Amino acid sequence: MYNANETHHLQQLTHTLLKELPTIPEKEIEGLRDVLRFHEYRYYVLDEPMIADYEYDQLYKALERLEKDSPGRITPDSPTQRVARGLNPSFPTVDHLVPMLSLDNSYNAEDLIDWDRRVREGAGIKEVEYCVEPKFDGASISLIYDDDLLARGATRGDGVQGDDITTNIRQIRSVPLSARFSDYGIQQIEIRGEVLLSKKHFKAFNEKLAEQNLPPLANPRNAASGSLRIKDPEEVRRRNLEAFLYHVSYHTDSGKPHHALDTHAGTLKMLWDLGFRSPEKEKKIFRGIEGVIDYCLRFEAERDDLPYEIDGMVIKVNDIALQEKLGMTTHHPRWAIAFKFKARQATSKLRAVEFQVGRTGSITPVAKIDPVPIGGVTVSSVSLFNEDVIREKDLMIGDQVLVERAGDVIPYIVKSIAEARNGHEHPIQFPHKCPVCHTQLYKEEGEAVWRCVNIECPAQVVERIIHFVSKDAMDINGFGEANVRKFYELGFLTDIPSIYRLPFDMIRGLEGFGEKSITKLQEAIEKSKGQPLHRLIFALGIRYVGETTAKTLAQSVENIYDFAGMSLEELQQMEDVGVKVANSIYHFFHNKGNLDLLKDLEELGLTMKSEKKSSIASGNLAGQTFLFTGTLNRLKRSEAEAMAEAQGGKILSGVSSKLNYLVVGEDAGSKLEKAKKIPSIHIITEEEFLDLVGNG
Ligand code: IVH
Repeated sequence: MYNANETHHLQQLTHTLLKELPTIPEKEIEGLRDVLRFHEYRYYVLDEPMIADYEYDQLYKALERLEKDSPGRITPDSPTQRVARGLNPSFPTVDHLVPMLSLDNSYNAEDLIDWDRRVREGAGIKEVEYCVEPKFDGASISLIYDDDLLARGATRGDGVQGDDITTNIRQIRSVPLSARFSDYGIQQIEIRGEVLLSKKHFKAFNEKLAEQNLPPLANPRNAASGSLRIKDPEEVRRRNLEAFLYHVSYHTDSGKPHHALDTHAGTLKMLWDLGFRSPEKEKKIFRGIEGVIDYCLRFEAERDDLPYEIDGMVIKVNDIALQEKLGMTTHHPRWAIAFKFKARQATSKLRAVEFQVGRTGSITPVAKIDPVPIGGVTVSSVSLFNEDVIREKDLMIGDQVLVERAGDVIPYIVKSIAEARNGHEHPIQFPHKCPVCHTQLYKEEGEAVWRCVNIECPAQVVERIIHFVSKDAMDINGFGEANVRKFYELGFLTDIPSIYRLPFDMIRGLEGFGEKSITKLQEAIEKSKGQPLHRLIFALGIRYVGETTAKTLAQSVENIYDFAGMSLEELQQMEDVGVKVANSIYHFFHNKGNLDLLKDLEELGLTMKSEKKSSIASGNLAGQTFLFTGTLNRLKRSEAEAMAEAQGGKILSGVSSKLNYLVVGEDAGSKLEKAKKIPSIHIITEEEFLDLVGNG
């Protein structure tokens, strides 16, 4: 999309504009848009950002300011025009220019060999060229561009008609709002693709839901199709959807044919060159079916390493003229076939439902099923989240159920197979009393979760301690779940402070506790006293306060007791803190028992002070991390490091995914090799580094 010269030019312009903030003149408005489009492309299509997020935000705000001052200069494809305010009242039904067909499926090598034979017979040739690419597991869409501008985005619907979701499509930042199809002699074009949510964003989204005790979205595919139908475009934007475009179903003809569209691979390249996220890098071309089969199997073995979900591969005849000759059935094209990966679903029998008490007293029903292997793991327990899920899925004890486990997503029950019932099934009884302490359960209005409100409930106490010592919280190594339960049963652990008063003399006598493991545990407990404040805040298990919120909170105070003096309004002003979260924090710090707990922990030696209120680093490189390797020519290592730090950068000591820039001098060795394996690291020369710090 951008060649080396353009990239260089736009990066230079970026830094010129960044220096001119906030006085960028109006004549730079188009340049500013080019720069923003370029960085959207680097970030959302290539996944290789060249500036810090906050720098992008500053440039974006500058453009908003300029456009506010001169509304006449707003263009429909300006980066600011993705954002829409207000709600989509409805999604009108629209006709697709060409019906969106489905694909025929294959499941093994034999199926593919058969299909290849049929293609060769239909084509009347000995060997056919195929183009193979991933089958993206998302929601299909069609886009129409008119005169280079995105004119419409629609869902697949029934294949003939879909829903007009243009406003939501505009929130997907890897979809260009304009693209120069005119360079290819095309006035109108209809493109097909798939919208999906990367595994990373899917996980983050579910963590947010979990913090609110809401059931997670089942899988990235459902998350994507659900997201496209959200009425609030700003919420759609926050979901971070991605779009892969892989097919041109219609285009106007200028009379001067462009050869880019002679082959499927050419089509993918055209889309890529125009700034679309097409599977240009993933696709591969083969003569004959053998290579195709190998490639499909290789991809299947590596599917878990991809950043997004795929459920198979699609094999397409590469030559478009040949595609036309082969034609289609009413259901699918004859020139393409899907190779479906092994399902990560299985059926099993629902034997029982257990009710677990969480650290906040939430009662979670857990289905016990006959153990069944899914995607290489044996599944026997599946969370059902809450009572509503049981009702909605109409689950009964004794049912045959369909279970799915996609990638690193936790397993879940897709549905019960009602047709397989024989009359011996019986309903699931949700308890009225806590299964552990027998306190009457309580459900807040508008919530789906029943709770045990007895904070002394042994189950809750144990879960709170397990959470406190866990890896993401205080990270007390060697203090696994089993040890917490054992020490609790023995009366050694009664509450959180008792972690720091364990009677090691008595533990020494227990089976399985040698001198070595005791010393290790003692050391880990001692070390945890110095954990930064955000870990302690997270470890306390305040409702709705997840790891991210805990970090924001820790940054905004000097001492944990500061929260006790804050009003609800003050709390709500913090980033990421809404009414619900603020309420929860407020009540936590206005509860005498909790304040006593903190005092006790402080006396035991735990850190209550914030990690030196990070004076929010400023400068062009704020938040960016650097590492230098090899011999630099123009700078001493220490000078270079100081230059990066002067602009808010941070120097790391080793190569890891936390690193943003590896600056490579002469004779660079193993660090360079290691960095090459981590795609998110920018490997730059000394010259490029000097450009970056503005001293080139
Ligand atoms: S080609 C006429 N290519 O899979 C062309 N489809 O199960 C038909 N899909 O409806 C589509 N990745 O929504 C094609 N690389 C890919 C695909 C793909 C995912 C979807 C598409 C289709 C469904 C069929």
